[in-house]
Amino acid sequence: MRLTHPYQTERLGAVRVFGLQHVFELESGAVDGDDDSALSWGTTVCHVPGPALQAVQRKMAIVVPCMNERLRLFEGVLSGIPHDCLLIFVSNSDRDPVDRFAMERDAVARFCLFNQRPGVAVHQREPDLAAAFVAAGMPELVDTSGTIHSGKGEAMILGIALARVAGAEYVGFVDADNYVPGSVAEYINAFAADFHLAQTPYSMVRINWKSKPKVVDGALQFSRFGRVSETTDRFLNLLLSHLTGFGTEAIRTGNAGEHAMSMALAVELHFATGFAVEPCELIEIFERFGGTVPEPDAIEVRVMRAGLEAFQVETLNPHFHEDKGDSHVQEMRQVALAGIHNLASCSPRLRDEIERELRHDGIEDLDTALAPIKTYPPLSVLDWESFASELSRCSTNVTQFAYPDPSTDVLTTTRR
Ligand code: GDP
Ligand code: CO
Repeated sequence: MRLTHPYQTERLGAVRVFGLQHVFELESGAVDGDDDSALSWGTTVCHVPGPALQAVQRKMAIVVPCMNERLRLFEGVLSGIPHDCLLIFVSNSDRDPVDRFAMERDAVARFCLFNQRPGVAVHQREPDLAAAFVAAGMPELVDTSGTIHSGKGEAMILGIALARVAGAEYVGFVDADNYVPGSVAEYINAFAADFHLAQTPYSMVRINWKSKPKVVDGALQFSRFGRVSETTDRFLNLLLSHLTGFGTEAIRTGNAGEHAMSMALAVELHFATGFAVEPCELIEIFERFGGTVPEPDAIEVRVMRAGLEAFQVETLNPHFHEDKGDSHVQEMRQVALAGIHNLASCSPRLRDEIERELRHDGIEDLDTALAPIKTYPPLSVLDWESFASELSRCSTNVTQFAYPDPSTDVLTTTRR
């Protein structure tokens, strides 16, 4: 893949946010010699050859969260995941009256068999999985009925935990409702390209879609931004400007569902519930690792010493996904605002601006709109040994597809 060298940076303490990178070539070819990616340093274009992408993808798990999506779309998404990645499928689909999860699991089984690659499929509401989190020290994830809470953030936490047990060093997320399988491949190659370029153990890659096509009056319109991402990004940029003292428009991926993290970073974040998860990651990173915490804890000190890099890539493929209407759109707009408003380091002026924005939206009950967002403890609190042994005890509810070698255990830390 050939993409912009990440040279524009915003610095906030130990955090570096890189400006949007453009993709110039989806397939950039191999070159003489083992690895010419060093060639690209110092120029405006980076070349990350195919073998370098694969080397990262062999250490990467891709989590696909899915809730009642059309099977056709989901199957297309699977086909777009590069072969070397480990597939982790986390479903919250209905099981009654039609067992949609069983159909999804069959699709994953076929996909892994035909392509001779490993995979894992779980249902988020399976009580055994909840029991494993309770036993390993994270009861917060479990509700009173004894199952993991519903929500996309919760599905990500479960997916990351499984990826960690499988020994993955990177974990990425792609939505299951995507109409364009080729775009999935592009996202995941972009993840790998930037992890190849990353210079710290704590890194993150977020995708910005070039366009989100919609049918308007019978014709395709390739619109650039959604209203939600526009607001989320604007306020994240205001926060960053407030913290650094310099105006910026660097943040372009506040609501990126398609994103990836190094495992070292993923296990330290306090993920937020449901659709609040993506913007809240950035807010937490600025708050904890941006150098404004008066007395940082041991993790914060470690991350700040090593540095944290956040990459953003604008992909070429259009993002064509299911239009589910506006139900959670308003919610997503509000969470970023609430998250920023609740920060200790948020200035009174920025708080005023957020309140004005919400009033402008016609929201009168500001206390409810700005209530603190529920977050979970970081996965690093888990006792991984007891988590893994609980998982193997409930193995009937954690379906493994062990190919090409059926005798392997996918959920052990030695990857292929
Ligand atoms: P949007 O793209 O921002 O409109 O959000 P979507 O509704 O498409 O959700 C993003 C992805 O998360 C899709 O693949 C959903 O099927 C999936 N998803 C949403 N909620 C849940 C959940 O509670 N559990 C799981 N496992 N997946 C979910
Ligand atoms: Co979607």
